Amino acid sequence: MRFVGEKIDASIDAYLKPVETNWQPADFLPDTTRETFLDEVKQLRESTRELSYDYVAVLVGDTITEEALPTYESWLMDMEGVNQAEPNSWTRWIRSWTAEENRHGDLLNKFLYLSGRVNMRAMEVSTQYLIADGFDIGTGRDPYRNFIYTSFQELATNVSHRRTATLAKQAGCVQLSKICGVIASDELRHAKAYKAFVSQILEVDPTGMMLAFEDMMRKKIVMPAHFLRETGVKISETFSHFSDAAQRLGVYTTMDYIEIAESLLVDWNIESVNDLSDAGQRARDYLMALPGRLRRVAERTKVPMLEYPFSWIAA
Ligand SMILES: [Fe+2]
Ligand SMILES: [Fe+2]
Repeated sequence: MRFVGEKIDASIDAYLKPVETNWQPADFLPDTTRETFLDEVKQLRESTRELSYDYVAVLVGDTITEEALPTYESWLMDMEGVNQAEPNSWTRWIRSWTAEENRHGDLLNKFLYLSGRVNMRAMEVSTQYLIADGFDIGTGRDPYRNFIYTSFQELATNVSHRRTATLAKQAGCVQLSKICGVIASDELRHAKAYKAFVSQILEVDPTGMMLAFEDMMRKKIVMPAHFLRETGVKISETFSHFSDAAQRLGVYTTMDYIEIAESLLVDWNIESVNDLSDAGQRARDYLMALPGRLRRVAERTKVPMLEYPFSWIAA
Protein backbone atom coordinates (compact mmCIF):
# COMPACT_ATOMS: atom_id res chain seq x y z
CA MET A 1 0.00 0.00 0.00
CA ARG A 2 2.88 2.32 0.73
CA PHE A 3 4.42 1.50 -2.67
CA VAL A 4 1.26 2.24 -4.65
CA GLY A 5 0.31 5.09 -2.32
CA GLU A 6 3.49 7.00 -3.10
CA LYS A 7 2.15 7.76 -6.57
CA ILE A 8 -1.39 8.52 -5.45
CA ASP A 9 -1.31 12.23 -6.34
CA ALA A 10 -0.54 11.29 -9.91
CA SER A 11 -3.39 8.76 -9.82
CA ILE A 12 -5.84 11.35 -8.49
CA ASP A 13 -4.82 13.70 -11.31
CA ALA A 14 -5.03 10.96 -13.92
CA TYR A 15 -8.27 9.24 -12.90
CA LEU A 16 -10.35 11.82 -11.06
CA LYS A 17 -11.51 15.23 -12.22
CA PRO A 18 -11.06 18.60 -10.49
CA VAL A 19 -14.15 19.56 -8.49
CA GLU A 20 -14.57 22.96 -10.14
CA THR A 21 -14.82 21.62 -13.67
CA ASN A 22 -16.52 18.31 -12.90
CA TRP A 23 -20.19 17.88 -13.82
CA GLN A 24 -22.73 18.25 -11.05
CA PRO A 25 -26.26 16.81 -10.81
CA ALA A 26 -27.73 20.29 -11.29
CA ASP A 27 -26.24 20.38 -14.81
CA PHE A 28 -28.68 17.64 -15.86
CA LEU A 29 -31.84 18.63 -13.99
CA PRO A 30 -34.47 21.35 -14.32
CA ASP A 31 -33.26 24.53 -12.59
CA THR A 32 -35.66 25.36 -9.74
CA THR A 33 -34.77 29.06 -9.86
CA ARG A 34 -36.03 29.51 -13.39
CA GLU A 35 -39.49 30.57 -14.49
CA THR A 36 -39.52 27.62 -16.84
CA PHE A 37 -38.95 25.08 -14.06
CA LEU A 38 -42.44 23.62 -13.99
CA ASP A 39 -42.57 23.30 -17.78
CA GLU A 40 -39.23 21.52 -17.74
CA VAL A 41 -40.51 19.13 -15.09
CA LYS A 42 -43.59 18.48 -17.18
CA GLN A 43 -41.41 17.64 -20.18
CA LEU A 44 -39.22 15.41 -18.04
CA ARG A 45 -42.28 13.48 -16.83
CA GLU A 46 -43.58 13.07 -20.34
CA SER A 47 -40.21 11.86 -21.54
CA THR A 48 -40.22 8.96 -19.07
CA ARG A 49 -43.60 7.59 -20.16
CA GLU A 50 -42.20 5.04 -22.59
CA LEU A 51 -39.73 3.55 -20.10
CA SER A 52 -40.78 -0.04 -19.38
CA TYR A 53 -41.69 -1.43 -15.97
CA ASP A 54 -38.52 -3.51 -15.74
CA TYR A 55 -36.48 -0.53 -16.87
CA VAL A 56 -37.77 1.69 -14.09
CA ALA A 57 -37.23 -1.13 -11.57
CA VAL A 58 -33.64 -1.57 -12.71
CA LEU A 59 -33.01 2.16 -12.55
CA VAL A 60 -34.38 2.24 -9.01
CA GLY A 61 -32.12 -0.69 -8.05
CA ASP A 62 -29.13 1.09 -9.63
CA THR A 63 -29.99 4.25 -7.73
CA ILE A 64 -30.29 2.47 -4.39
CA THR A 65 -26.95 0.77 -5.08
CA GLU A 66 -25.34 4.17 -5.68
CA GLU A 67 -27.05 5.63 -2.61
CA ALA A 68 -25.43 3.02 -0.35
CA LEU A 69 -22.12 4.84 -0.82
CA PRO A 70 -21.58 5.28 2.96
CA THR A 71 -21.10 1.50 3.13
CA TYR A 72 -18.49 1.52 0.38
CA GLU A 73 -16.54 4.47 1.74
CA SER A 74 -16.39 3.12 5.27
CA TRP A 75 -15.38 -0.29 3.93
CA LEU A 76 -12.48 1.11 1.93
CA MET A 77 -11.41 3.37 4.80
CA ASP A 78 -11.06 0.24 6.91
CA MET A 79 -8.57 -1.43 4.55
CA GLU A 80 -5.16 -2.35 5.92
CA GLY A 81 -2.74 0.46 5.15
CA VAL A 82 -5.39 3.17 5.47
CA ASN A 83 -5.74 5.16 8.65
CA GLN A 84 -8.18 8.06 8.97
CA ALA A 85 -6.57 9.33 12.12
CA GLU A 86 -3.28 9.71 10.29
CA PRO A 87 -4.35 10.90 6.89
CA ASN A 88 -2.10 9.54 4.21
CA SER A 89 -2.31 9.35 0.49
CA TRP A 90 -4.93 6.59 0.55
CA THR A 91 -7.43 8.56 2.61
CA ARG A 92 -7.12 11.29 0.00
CA TRP A 93 -7.89 8.85 -2.80
CA ILE A 94 -10.85 7.31 -1.01
CA ARG A 95 -12.37 10.68 -0.12
CA SER A 96 -11.94 12.05 -3.64
CA TRP A 97 -13.36 8.89 -5.20
CA THR A 98 -16.33 8.99 -2.80
CA ALA A 99 -16.93 12.65 -3.63
CA GLU A 100 -17.22 11.79 -7.32
CA GLU A 101 -19.38 8.74 -6.71
CA ASN A 102 -21.74 10.70 -4.46
CA ARG A 103 -23.01 12.62 -7.49
CA HIS A 104 -24.37 9.43 -9.05
CA GLY A 105 -27.02 8.55 -6.48
CA ASP A 106 -27.83 12.20 -6.03
CA LEU A 107 -28.54 12.75 -9.72
CA LEU A 108 -30.49 9.53 -10.30
CA ASN A 109 -32.53 10.03 -7.17
CA LYS A 110 -33.60 13.55 -8.15
CA PHE A 111 -34.44 12.45 -11.66
CA LEU A 112 -36.57 9.56 -10.44
CA TYR A 113 -38.31 11.83 -7.95
CA LEU A 114 -39.30 14.25 -10.70
CA SER A 115 -40.31 11.47 -13.11
CA GLY A 116 -43.44 10.52 -11.19
CA ARG A 117 -42.85 6.87 -12.05
CA VAL A 118 -41.54 5.83 -8.65
CA ASN A 119 -42.98 5.23 -5.21
CA MET A 120 -40.29 7.29 -3.52
CA ARG A 121 -41.09 6.15 -0.02
CA ALA A 122 -40.67 2.48 -0.93
CA MET A 123 -37.39 3.29 -2.66
CA GLU A 124 -36.17 5.27 0.33
CA VAL A 125 -37.07 2.45 2.69
CA SER A 126 -34.98 0.08 0.57
CA THR A 127 -32.10 2.56 0.59
CA GLN A 128 -32.21 2.90 4.35
CA TYR A 129 -32.36 -0.88 4.72
CA LEU A 130 -29.42 -1.39 2.40
CA ILE A 131 -27.22 1.09 4.25
CA ALA A 132 -28.29 -0.35 7.61
CA ASP A 133 -27.67 -3.94 6.45
CA GLY A 134 -24.26 -3.19 4.96
CA PHE A 135 -22.63 -5.82 2.79
CA ASP A 136 -20.14 -8.63 2.81
CA ILE A 137 -18.11 -8.73 -0.34
CA GLY A 138 -15.59 -11.30 0.81
CA THR A 139 -12.56 -9.02 0.69
CA GLY A 140 -11.95 -8.60 4.40
CA ARG A 141 -9.60 -5.68 5.08
CA ASP A 142 -7.18 -6.85 2.41
CA PRO A 143 -6.39 -4.13 -0.16
CA TYR A 144 -5.49 -6.71 -2.83
CA ARG A 145 -8.93 -8.30 -2.65
CA ASN A 146 -10.58 -4.91 -2.40
CA PHE A 147 -8.87 -3.64 -5.55
CA ILE A 148 -9.90 -6.78 -7.44
CA TYR A 149 -13.44 -6.15 -6.26
CA THR A 150 -13.49 -2.46 -7.12
CA SER A 151 -11.89 -3.06 -10.54
CA PHE A 152 -14.61 -5.56 -11.31
CA GLN A 153 -17.41 -3.55 -9.80
CA GLU A 154 -16.57 -0.27 -11.53
CA LEU A 155 -16.57 -2.14 -14.84
CA ALA A 156 -19.91 -3.76 -13.99
CA THR A 157 -21.49 -0.41 -13.18
CA ASN A 158 -20.00 1.04 -16.35
CA VAL A 159 -21.75 -1.66 -18.37
CA SER A 160 -25.09 -1.30 -16.62
CA HIS A 161 -25.22 2.51 -16.73
CA ARG A 162 -24.14 2.43 -20.36
CA ARG A 163 -26.96 0.04 -21.21
CA THR A 164 -29.59 2.03 -19.31
CA ALA A 165 -28.37 5.05 -21.30
CA THR A 166 -28.92 3.24 -24.59
CA LEU A 167 -32.36 1.97 -23.57
CA ALA A 168 -33.41 5.44 -22.38
CA LYS A 169 -32.47 6.84 -25.76
CA GLN A 170 -34.46 4.16 -27.54
CA ALA A 171 -37.47 5.04 -25.36
CA GLY A 172 -37.10 8.70 -26.36
CA CYS A 173 -35.78 9.89 -23.02
CA VAL A 174 -32.72 11.86 -24.12
CA GLN A 175 -32.10 13.58 -20.80
CA LEU A 176 -32.01 10.31 -18.88
CA SER A 177 -29.78 8.83 -21.54
CA LYS A 178 -27.29 11.66 -20.99
CA ILE A 179 -27.49 11.17 -17.23
CA CYS A 180 -26.74 7.46 -17.39
CA GLY A 181 -24.01 8.17 -19.95
CA VAL A 182 -22.07 10.62 -17.80
CA ILE A 183 -22.31 8.32 -14.82
CA ALA A 184 -21.07 5.40 -16.94
CA SER A 185 -18.02 7.37 -18.00
CA ASP A 186 -17.15 8.15 -14.37
CA GLU A 187 -17.33 4.44 -13.62
CA LEU A 188 -14.95 3.68 -16.46
CA ARG A 189 -12.38 6.21 -15.20
CA HIS A 190 -12.63 4.70 -11.74
CA ALA A 191 -12.21 1.19 -13.14
CA LYS A 192 -9.02 2.32 -14.87
CA ALA A 193 -7.65 3.59 -11.56
CA TYR A 194 -8.35 0.41 -9.62
CA LYS A 195 -7.00 -1.69 -12.47
CA ALA A 196 -3.81 0.39 -12.41
CA PHE A 197 -3.44 -0.23 -8.67
CA VAL A 198 -3.70 -3.97 -9.28
CA SER A 199 -1.14 -3.78 -12.11
CA GLN A 200 1.31 -1.97 -9.85
CA ILE A 201 0.88 -4.56 -7.10
CA LEU A 202 1.30 -7.40 -9.62
CA GLU A 203 4.75 -6.00 -10.37
CA VAL A 204 5.96 -6.19 -6.79
CA ASP A 205 3.94 -9.08 -5.36
CA PRO A 206 2.69 -11.26 -8.22
CA THR A 207 1.95 -14.30 -6.08
CA GLY A 208 0.04 -12.37 -3.43
CA MET A 209 -2.05 -10.60 -6.04
CA MET A 210 -2.69 -13.78 -8.03
CA LEU A 211 -3.92 -15.61 -4.94
CA ALA A 212 -6.19 -12.68 -4.06
CA PHE A 213 -7.64 -12.65 -7.59
CA GLU A 214 -8.24 -16.40 -7.49
CA ASP A 215 -9.89 -16.18 -4.08
CA MET A 216 -12.26 -13.42 -5.18
CA MET A 217 -13.28 -15.25 -8.34
CA ARG A 218 -13.83 -18.52 -6.48
CA LYS A 219 -16.14 -16.69 -4.08
CA LYS A 220 -17.74 -14.93 -7.07
CA ILE A 221 -17.93 -11.16 -7.18
CA VAL A 222 -21.16 -10.34 -5.37
CA MET A 223 -22.97 -7.14 -6.25
CA PRO A 224 -22.78 -4.39 -3.64
CA ALA A 225 -26.58 -4.42 -3.31
CA HIS A 226 -26.83 -8.14 -2.65
CA PHE A 227 -28.66 -7.40 0.62
CA LEU A 228 -31.23 -5.22 -1.18
CA ARG A 229 -34.75 -5.55 0.23
CA GLU A 230 -38.23 -4.09 0.27
CA THR A 231 -40.70 -3.83 3.13
CA GLY A 232 -42.07 -7.26 3.96
CA VAL A 233 -39.82 -9.07 1.50
CA LYS A 234 -37.07 -11.42 2.67
CA ILE A 235 -33.49 -10.17 2.43
CA SER A 236 -31.79 -11.10 -0.86
CA GLU A 237 -35.13 -11.89 -2.53
CA THR A 238 -35.53 -8.36 -3.84
CA PHE A 239 -32.00 -8.47 -5.15
CA SER A 240 -32.63 -11.57 -7.23
CA HIS A 241 -35.77 -10.01 -8.72
CA PHE A 242 -33.77 -6.88 -9.51
CA SER A 243 -30.99 -8.90 -11.07
CA ASP A 244 -33.51 -10.98 -13.11
CA ALA A 245 -35.02 -7.74 -14.43
CA ALA A 246 -31.54 -6.51 -15.37
CA GLN A 247 -30.90 -9.80 -17.21
CA ARG A 248 -34.23 -9.63 -19.05
CA LEU A 249 -33.46 -6.12 -20.24
CA GLY A 250 -29.88 -7.00 -21.07
CA VAL A 251 -28.63 -4.25 -18.75
CA TYR A 252 -26.33 -6.55 -16.84
CA THR A 253 -26.15 -10.25 -17.61
CA THR A 254 -24.17 -13.35 -16.74
CA MET A 255 -22.35 -12.92 -20.05
CA ASP A 256 -21.30 -9.43 -18.93
CA TYR A 257 -19.87 -10.94 -15.75
CA ILE A 258 -17.86 -13.41 -17.81
CA GLU A 259 -16.70 -10.77 -20.28
CA ILE A 260 -15.54 -8.49 -17.47
CA ALA A 261 -13.55 -11.36 -15.93
CA GLU A 262 -12.04 -12.05 -19.35
CA SER A 263 -11.13 -8.41 -19.92
CA LEU A 264 -9.35 -8.28 -16.57
CA LEU A 265 -7.29 -11.35 -17.50
CA VAL A 266 -6.21 -9.54 -20.66
CA ASP A 267 -5.64 -6.12 -19.07
CA TRP A 268 -3.49 -7.55 -16.32
CA ASN A 269 -1.80 -9.92 -18.72
CA ILE A 270 -2.43 -12.74 -16.26
CA GLU A 271 -1.33 -15.41 -18.72
CA SER A 272 2.21 -14.06 -18.75
CA VAL A 273 2.67 -13.25 -15.08
CA ASN A 274 5.76 -15.16 -13.99
CA ASP A 275 7.76 -15.31 -10.82
CA LEU A 276 4.95 -17.14 -9.08
CA SER A 277 5.02 -19.68 -6.27
CA ASP A 278 3.45 -23.09 -6.97
CA ALA A 279 0.18 -21.92 -5.44
CA GLY A 280 0.42 -18.75 -7.51
CA GLN A 281 0.82 -20.79 -10.69
CA ARG A 282 -2.18 -22.90 -9.82
CA ALA A 283 -4.17 -19.71 -9.18
CA ARG A 284 -3.15 -18.36 -12.59
CA ASP A 285 -4.23 -21.62 -14.28
CA TYR A 286 -7.56 -21.54 -12.47
CA LEU A 287 -8.17 -17.95 -13.54
CA MET A 288 -7.25 -18.56 -17.16
CA ALA A 289 -9.68 -21.50 -17.37
CA LEU A 290 -12.49 -19.70 -15.57
CA PRO A 291 -14.26 -17.84 -18.42
CA GLY A 292 -14.61 -21.05 -20.42
CA ARG A 293 -16.09 -22.85 -17.46
CA LEU A 294 -18.48 -20.02 -16.63
CA ARG A 295 -19.65 -19.90 -20.24
CA ARG A 296 -20.62 -23.54 -20.14
CA VAL A 297 -22.62 -22.97 -16.94
CA ALA A 298 -24.24 -19.81 -18.33
CA GLU A 299 -25.52 -21.64 -21.38
CA ARG A 300 -27.52 -23.91 -19.10
CA THR A 301 -29.12 -21.21 -16.91
CA LYS A 302 -32.37 -19.54 -17.83
CA VAL A 303 -33.57 -16.11 -16.74
CA PRO A 304 -37.11 -16.03 -15.30
CA MET A 305 -39.27 -14.17 -17.78
CA LEU A 306 -41.90 -13.28 -15.23
CA GLU A 307 -42.11 -9.65 -14.19
CA TYR A 308 -42.01 -9.19 -10.45
CA PRO A 309 -44.21 -6.48 -8.89
CA PHE A 310 -41.71 -4.21 -7.14
CA SER A 311 -43.05 -1.95 -4.41
CA TRP A 312 -40.92 0.83 -5.94
CA ILE A 313 -42.96 1.35 -9.07
CA ALA A 314 -45.80 3.83 -9.00
CA ALA A 315 -46.92 3.72 -12.61
FE1 LIG B 1 -21.30 5.08 -9.16
FE1 LIG C 1 -18.44 3.31 -9.14
